[in-house]
Amino acid sequence: MKASRTNKSPAPKTAARKGSIRILILSGPNLNRLGKREPQIYGSTTLAQIHERLAKSAEQRGAAVDCRQSNHEGDLIDWIGAAEDDGFAAILINPGAFTHTSYALYDAVKGSSLPTVELHLSNPDAREEFRRESKIAPACLGRIAGFGAASYGLALGAMLDRLLGEST
Ligand code: DQA
Repeated sequence: MKASRTNKSPAPKTAARKGSIRILILSGPNLNRLGKREPQIYGSTTLAQIHERLAKSAEQRGAAVDCRQSNHEGDLIDWIGAAEDDGFAAILINPGAFTHTSYALYDAVKGSSLPTVELHLSNPDAREEFRRESKIAPACLGRIAGFGAASYGLALGAMLDRLLGEST
């Protein structure tokens, strides 16, 4: 029997203090092309640079990140489904265009007991009509969007504040 933590509640603070918090950071389709893809919308920072920054920020707070990208919906679903058993404390996900289409990703996030944040570089609400709907959002703890590459770092900071019990 698992301890009775409520669904989506933060991991125990003791885990954080021991520096054992690991966060899974996922990026979906076409985000491997950051830096080249529509830089006027998504900026010139590459995904590799974002991952490097995230690893440094996490380390500074005694945590660790595992950053992955796939253009395939099934990979993202498999990673989300395995995340708790793999020892992650939380998930941050930029689902790319799957945000607007994927009930399967919604189900995967909903079925995970881990707190999950949806994030975007751009602000989908200020773009084309089809981007205004997120299928994933109702399964998430929260959403950060519109801050370019910094959206990843902001999501990580907010999640660590929560897991470390430092949010107000
Ligand atoms: C995005 C926004 C999505 O609408 C789009 O399909 C992407 C990137 C973002 O980070 O701004 O691929 O998720």
